[in-house]
Amino acid sequence: MTPIRRCAVIGAGVIGGGWAARLVLNGLDVAVFDPHPDAERRVRIMLENATRIFSKVTLVPLPEPGVLRFAASLADAVRGADFVQESAPEREELKRALLAEIDAHVQSDALVCSSTSGLLPSRLQSDMRHPDRFLVGHPFNPVYLLPLVELCGGARTTPEAIARAQEFYKWIGMRPLVVRKENDGFIADRLLEALWREALWLVKEDFATVEEVDDAIRFGAGLRWAMFGTFLIYRLAGGEDGMRHFMAQFGPALKLPWTKLTDVPELTDDLIDKIASQSDQQVGGVGLRSWEIRRDEGLLAIMQALKTLDIGAGRVLGEYERSLYTRVHNRSTAGKPDPSQPLRLHEGVVRPDWVDYNNHMTESRYLQSFNDATDAVLHYIGVDEKYLAGGNSYYTVETHIMHRQQAVALQPFYVTTQVLAADDKRLHLFHRLYSARDNTVLATAEQMLLHVDTRAGRVRPAADEMAERVRALVAAQAALPRPDQAGRSVGRH
Ligand SMILES: NC(=O)c1ccc[n+]([C@@H]2O[C@H](COP(=O)([O-])OP(=O)(O)OC[C@H]3O[C@@H](n4cnc5c(N)ncnc54)[C@H](O)[C@@H]3O)[C@@H](O)[C@H]2O)c1
Repeated sequence: MTPIRRCAVIGAGVIGGGWAARLVLNGLDVAVFDPHPDAERRVRIMLENATRIFSKVTLVPLPEPGVLRFAASLADAVRGADFVQESAPEREELKRALLAEIDAHVQSDALVCSSTSGLLPSRLQSDMRHPDRFLVGHPFNPVYLLPLVELCGGARTTPEAIARAQEFYKWIGMRPLVVRKENDGFIADRLLEALWREALWLVKEDFATVEEVDDAIRFGAGLRWAMFGTFLIYRLAGGEDGMRHFMAQFGPALKLPWTKLTDVPELTDDLIDKIASQSDQQVGGVGLRSWEIRRDEGLLAIMQALKTLDIGAGRVLGEYERSLYTRVHNRSTAGKPDPSQPLRLHEGVVRPDWVDYNNHMTESRYLQSFNDATDAVLHYIGVDEKYLAGGNSYYTVETHIMHRQQAVALQPFYVTTQVLAADDKRLHLFHRLYSARDNTVLATAEQMLLHVDTRAGRVRPAADEMAERVRALVAAQAALPRPDQAGRSVGRH
C-alpha cells in the first residue's frame, strides 16, 4: 500500500475546510474541490486560523506545510490522490453521486472517507465500483484541533481499509474510534442528539434560555466530560461501591418523566425565532471570528492541561508530539550526514509567538532550539523509543549559551553540533545556531549530558553498543578545531 502523501477534499465548508487545514499542517499536499464561489476565500481564512493555533499546539518543530490547491473539477482534485475526504452537504443522494464520481476518477488503492454525521456507510458505498476502500471518518469541529474521528465501515468495507484509515488518522494527530456496528448517528452524534433534543424542549417550554442551558453544561458536566466521559464519571459518583451502587441509587429516576427524548419539539417559526434571538443576545455582538479564536484557545488550554495528566485528548496530544519528533529526526538523518563534520540535524523557523516586544527571540527559545538539536543528536546515535523504554537516556546537566546576533520572528534557522568529547557516561556537545538566510552564527551553546538509568534516577554507563557509537562519532570529529567559545564562563568578554 502506498503511503499517503497527496490528499483531496471534496466539499470545503466548515468541515472540509478544517480537514484541508489539518492535512496541510501535517505536511500533506491537498487539492480541494467545492463549487461555491466563496469556497477558496473561506478555506484560506480557516487555514490562517488553524496555522495560528497549530503553532501553539506543540513545541516540536512542525513539518513544512503541504501545498493547498483549488481544483476546477472533482476529477481534477482526486486525480493522483492517495486519500480523499468527502465533506459535502448531508444529503444521501448527493453524497452517493459524489462518492461514485470520486471512485471513478481516483486510483483504485486510494482510501475514500466521508465526513457524514450519521448516514449509513453501506448505503453511501452502494454506487461505488471499489466500495471495499470506503468508510466513514466522522470528525468534530474544529477538525484541525479536536482529535476524535469515528470510523465506521459499511457491509462491503474491508478490515484493511479500516486499519489503514486508523493508522493514517493517528498519524495526523487524531484519535480514531472504530464503531463496532453500523448504525444511524454512530456513537457521538447519538449522544449529542439526545442532549440537543432536551435543550430544545427546555427553551421551548421556558424552563431556561439558550444561555442558561449552556451554563448548565459548561459549569458542571462539561468540565468533567473532557477527562472521563460519562461512565467513569458516574462510577466515581457511586463512591466506594462504584457503578453498582450508582445504578441502584439513580436507576429508579430513569422511570421518572425527566426527559422528553422520545419526543421532538416541532421546529415552528416561533421556536426558531425564539432560539435565534436568544442566541444573538448571548453572543453580545461579538463576531464569529472572535468566538472561534476563543474556542480554539480554550480547547488548546484544556488539551495541554490534560497532557500533563496523560488523560483523554491530552494523551493523544502527547503521542502525536512523540511521533512528530520521530518524523523530524528521521527526516534530518535521511540525508546521511557526514560524521566528520558538525552534524546539521535540526532546523526550524522562529515562530511569531517566540519573540518578545522588540521582535527578538526570547532567551528560553534559544535553549529550547538547542535542546531540540541535542534530541536530534541523541536520536542520531541511537537513543530511540526502544532505548528510552529500556530505562536509558541522556540528561542535560549543564548549558552555557552565548548570543551573537538576534534571531527575529519568521527567521529560518538551523543548528549544527560538534561532539567535543565523550566517554561511557558523558557527552560534551557544542551547538551553533545559524541564520538560514545568510549562514551567520546567531548563538552558540555548550552542553554536558550524562547517561542515566531513568528508573533509578542515577548516572549509569551507556550500554556497550551506544558507548561504541559515541566513541566512533568523537573519533570522526577529532580533527575539527575546538570552538573559541568552548569552555567559556559568564563574564569573560
Ligand atoms: N458542521 C459540523 O459540526 C459537522 C461535524 C461533523 C461532520 N459534519 C458533516 O460534514 C459534512 C459537511 O458539513 P459542513 O458542516 O461542513 O457543511 P457546509 O454547508 O459548511 O459545507 C458543505 C460544502 O459542500 C459544498 N458543496 C455543495 N455541493 C457540492 C458538490 N456537489 N461537490 C463538492 N462540494 C459541494 C458547499 O459549497 C459547502 O462549501 C456533512 O456531511 C456533515 O454532516 C458536520
